[in-house]
Amino acid sequence: MWLSKRFKVAALLTSWAANALCSSSDVGFLSPHKNTTCYPKLNVEELAARLSPHAEIYEPGSDGFIEGTLRWSAYHAPTVSLVVVPRNEEDVAETIKFANEFKSPFFAVNTGHGTITSQRKMRRGIEIWLDELRTVDISEDGKTAVVGGGALTKTVAETLFAAGKQAVTGFCECVGLLGASLGGGLSILQGKHGLAIDQFVSLRTVLADGSITTIDEDSELFWAMKGAGHNFGIVVSATYKIHDVEHQNWAFTAFTYAGEAVEDIFQALNDNFRADQQPADVVIAVAFELLPQVDPENPVIIVLVIQEGKDALDPVFAEVFTNLNPLATQTEIMPFDKLPIVLYANLEAGPCQRVGLNYFRHPQSIKEYNVASQRELYELFTDTIRAVPALNGSQILIDHFPTQGVQAIASESAAYPHRDKNIYFAPTIAYMPDGPELDKEAMKFSSRIREIVHKGTGEDKRSAYVNYAFGDESLPELFGEPWRIERLRELKEKYDPYGRFNFYAPIE
Ligand SMILES: Cc1cc2nc3c(=O)[nH]c(=O)nc-3n(C[C@H](O)[C@H](O)[C@H](O)COP(=O)(O)OP(=O)(O)OC[C@H]3O[C@@H](n4cnc5c(N)ncnc54)[C@H](O)[C@@H]3O)c2cc1C
Ligand SMILES: *[C@@H]1O[C@H](CO)[C@@H](O)[C@H](O)[C@H]1NC(C)=O
Ligand SMILES: *[C@@H]1O[C@H](CO)[C@@H](O)[C@H](O)[C@H]1NC(C)=O
Repeated sequence: MWLSKRFKVAALLTSWAANALCSSSDVGFLSPHKNTTCYPKLNVEELAARLSPHAEIYEPGSDGFIEGTLRWSAYHAPTVSLVVVPRNEEDVAETIKFANEFKSPFFAVNTGHGTITSQRKMRRGIEIWLDELRTVDISEDGKTAVVGGGALTKTVAETLFAAGKQAVTGFCECVGLLGASLGGGLSILQGKHGLAIDQFVSLRTVLADGSITTIDEDSELFWAMKGAGHNFGIVVSATYKIHDVEHQNWAFTAFTYAGEAVEDIFQALNDNFRADQQPADVVIAVAFELLPQVDPENPVIIVLVIQEGKDALDPVFAEVFTNLNPLATQTEIMPFDKLPIVLYANLEAGPCQRVGLNYFRHPQSIKEYNVASQRELYELFTDTIRAVPALNGSQILIDHFPTQGVQAIASESAAYPHRDKNIYFAPTIAYMPDGPELDKEAMKFSSRIREIVHKGTGEDKRSAYVNYAFGDESLPELFGEPWRIERLRELKEKYDPYGRFNFYAPIE
């Protein structure tokens, strides 16, 4: 065990002693959701002795602790007593066993981009920070790659691209590949290859009791890991199918519209890009946002369209959007690994910064736009940022993705239940925290967006992608039909009977 310079055992033990108001047998895992006022006394030196020489432990107040607990959203963040940085799978297993012995909650963290409010239920637990498990190794036959449980989307995309390969990775460079994959994994390549979960070959995983196992198609847990994986273990490395890069370049065009165009935009999207019409190589993303350089008062609607293997969008698609009279049009040609730059999703872009803002969403997955509801959303957005300027950095984001690859895979084959949906609403409320009044306004705005979108579907049931979820969704909303939930519950009972992995959309 290598104790970092920042690690001060004495200070740490003192701070714990002050908090250890009761014996460890009084607290614990059987009631992780209870707001316990006493905490277990952890013998940190003992934990250190069980870990490999280069594993690290960071105490509160140290630079490593601060960095390791920085989150994308400050809203409903988990609280952490200790950060452990494992160097290998045994370190993860030993930390879990140690936590279990001392009845301390624990939680894997990679980039801290998770927002679901159930994370808040982790109070003063051990954070297992996957930061050092970032390797990407391409197999000799070039058909698979082994990716560390803490690898960033950027690392994976760039490493593979340099070798003429690509994986089903997300938009955003700063998100962890595993964190996104375990909930499904939406990607600009999903039209061709399916979701990230459809690329899983095997998952080296540490389970709730600290045992290490390889989960593959012969394991009953494989199904559950594909969509509800956060509930069952910590993946230390995953073998993914990878694909040859067929086309280096993608055409990119951003069309910016004024509010008058709302009806035309969403009618055009309904008419030309329904799930059964959208070509596998065309990916669309829409944002309602305030863009002061274009209009300081009224939000604009930006439609990003990208198409694989082209120097310009096919004229038939470009026309759909140019006919709607955009205020501005920006066109680029980008290689796959540089696309995040124009999509505002590279490491340097706004969405990748962790600066203490509150972010949350009340998402919804749908199949078609209700044009009148889209107008209502636009008016709500405009009225809200006028009345509450502090919310003017929010965006209503919509991923409008192709589904051929997603629907080519049988829906029963994975826990992920939303293969029939192609439009993912991720309205992202963003603001600097400033007291409960503002929180209330933000929450009102966010949940009103969900109401409008849901009403517009005309359906009773709502449907939400777990990785965008707020945290108040029902299990059917997140995980689908009763048979899926029953199966998830049975597996949960068998593999995580004490609910140790209950901090991210828990199956209870
Ligand atoms: C800016 C932005 C862009 C996004 N883009 C996409 C996108 O393109 N496609 C998409 O599908 N989603 C996207 N998401 C949603 C994303 O999938 C979730 O935010 C996800 O939780 C991020 O995982 P993380 O590991 O980066 O974050 P973290 O907060 O570190 O982890 C989130 C959850 O995953 C668990 N976890 C992380 N790694 C592991 C592991 N190795 N084993 C077990 N559990 C693990 C953690 O315990 C935690 O419960 C985006 C989110 C943001 C904020
Ligand atoms: C938990 O309990 C403590 C002590 O009663 C209290 O100060 C704190 O606000 C509570 N936290 C939550 C989130 O309920
Ligand atoms: C957004 O709101 C902030 C106050 O929170 C204000 O300072 C800023 O000028 C606003 N931006 C625009 C473009 O109105």
